[in-house]
Amino acid sequence: MKSFFSRFPKIAVALIAQAFALVLLAALVLVASFFIAPPYPLWLLVLVQGFLAAFISCRMGLPCWWRIIQIALPVGLYFGLTYKVNSWWALGIFIVLWLVFFNAIKERVPLYLTNSTTREALKKLVKRRRKVRFLDLGAGLGGNVVFMSQLPNVMRSDGVETAPIPYLLARFFTLLRGGHIYAMDIWNTKLEYYDVVYAFLSPEPMEKLWQKVSNEMVSGSVFISNSFAVPDVEPSEVWELSDSRKTKLYLYHIQ
Ligand SMILES: C[S@@+](CC[C@H](N)C(=O)[O-])C[C@H]1O[C@@H](n2cnc3c(N)ncnc32)[C@H](O)[C@@H]1O
Repeated sequence: MKSFFSRFPKIAVALIAQAFALVLLAALVLVASFFIAPPYPLWLLVLVQGFLAAFISCRMGLPCWWRIIQIALPVGLYFGLTYKVNSWWALGIFIVLWLVFFNAIKERVPLYLTNSTTREALKKLVKRRRKVRFLDLGAGLGGNVVFMSQLPNVMRSDGVETAPIPYLLARFFTLLRGGHIYAMDIWNTKLEYYDVVYAFLSPEPMEKLWQKVSNEMVSGSVFISNSFAVPDVEPSEVWELSDSRKTKLYLYHIQ
């Protein structure tokens, strides 16, 4: 079943799961009516719909974090309709989310942030070097760029970001606290300029990114990927950190 649905866009699979859940819910209501006389509370039906859709979408191969969306969808509709929430709110929230998670659809890379343990590991890594030029591919809110810009052996700390709201926030933070952010696509960067290139993206772009890294980065530089290894390429080092998510940093020393 998983492989059949993997050819469809995830949003379509999510909606199909909701449709299956609705059919199952109707069957459950029919069976329940033999034991307990209807009507049943609407909030209960909405919750059951959400949990059924969450369960089905996992079976259909959607990543399990979609369960949260599958539960939130009917519950959100229920609240929206019950309390007559102005539909402009939904549009407004959608636009804000789109401006934040801009790259989730196109690149399959959402926004989540490097934690302080990982930043300390980056600091330790660049300590071995002098006059470092650092680049964060997909800089998010610019936290890494600011952090690296404040290290004495980092000569230049840059980041690129295309999601509008993270870009504006990162621009603001770097203006105040150091580093440079560019509204540039990862694929348009010139990696040959940098000694340390860091990426915290997703499994999706890693193969293509490795082609760019191996074509452009110069000997002696290092590419670091947080959490996502390059498929079929042996990393030079793997650092397992002591944070709660046991972050793995994959280091690729460019020869
Ligand atoms: C997981 S976040 C990491 C943010 C930051 N590097 C950090 O570690 O805290 C990935 C970021 O990459 C950005 N991104 C994804 N694809 C991109 C692309 N093609 N060009 C520029 N930025 C991109 C996303 O918008 C998101 O902000």
